[in-house]
Amino acid sequence: MTITKFENATTTKFKEACAYCGYHDAISWKLSGLGQLSLLIGEGMDVDSTVLEIGAGCLITGFWLLPLVAEYCFIEPNTWLVEAAPHYQLKHLTKMSSRTDFLFGGVAFNPQFDYIFSHSVLSHASDSQLQQLMSAISKQLTSTGVGLVSLRICDDNGRPAIHSYHADWSYPDSRFFTSAMVEEAASAAGLRLEWRPDWRARMIAMNDNHNHDWIRLTK
Ligand SMILES: C[S@@+](CC[C@H](N)C(=O)[O-])C[C@H]1O[C@@H](n2cnc3c(N)ncnc32)[C@H](O)[C@@H]1O
Repeated sequence: MTITKFENATTTKFKEACAYCGYHDAISWKLSGLGQLSLLIGEGMDVDSTVLEIGAGCLITGFWLLPLVAEYCFIEPNTWLVEAAPHYQLKHLTKMSSRTDFLFGGVAFNPQFDYIFSHSVLSHASDSQLQQLMSAISKQLTSTGVGLVSLRICDDNGRPAIHSYHADWSYPDSRFFTSAMVEEAASAAGLRLEWRPDWRARMIAMNDNHNHDWIRLTK
């Protein structure tokens, strides 16, 4: 769909949902979704893959994933964001959870996923939610699966920021962890972690306010 056709098809609610998630226009929405999709494809995602997205927003990546992969599931507590996504996306929807916390062990996801993807969710999370999310990823990832997660370590100029302690989720303010905290949380959950500055660079090239740091998680 061209940008013009897409803009004509979207509703005011969808534009509000995009703005809430940090997309100022249809071009940044489209480029960001493509950027996220390219990270998954670069990791070998294919039509027979199963994908779980944590914090799907208004289905910016789901737009591309829903018709493409074998199974796309997501967690998104702000259901108004999903409901605002263009209707033609939702007809492909398989499962949805409206859990409001990071401990989603009770959700009937089936049974584990080849890819778990989460963009700009830990960037707003508390220290305890960091650990909870790592444990949940460890539980839901297949033995050969890959987790692709963005969070904030560095400031907008790419320099390590100071850890900002918060007891709870905050939005739209960003949270900053230290790299040591993130590595420790992954290790405690039984996950191997690799920093991916190249993913940060690619996402910034697609949308200059997507200055998150990226990690690749495996078992
Ligand atoms: C900055 S938006 C990012 C949305 C999407 N990942 C994207 O790239 O556009 C942060 C998202 O995290 C969601 N969120 C908030 N609390 C959450 C939680 N406990 N578990 C999962 N997602 C959560 C918000 O509703 C919002 O959609």
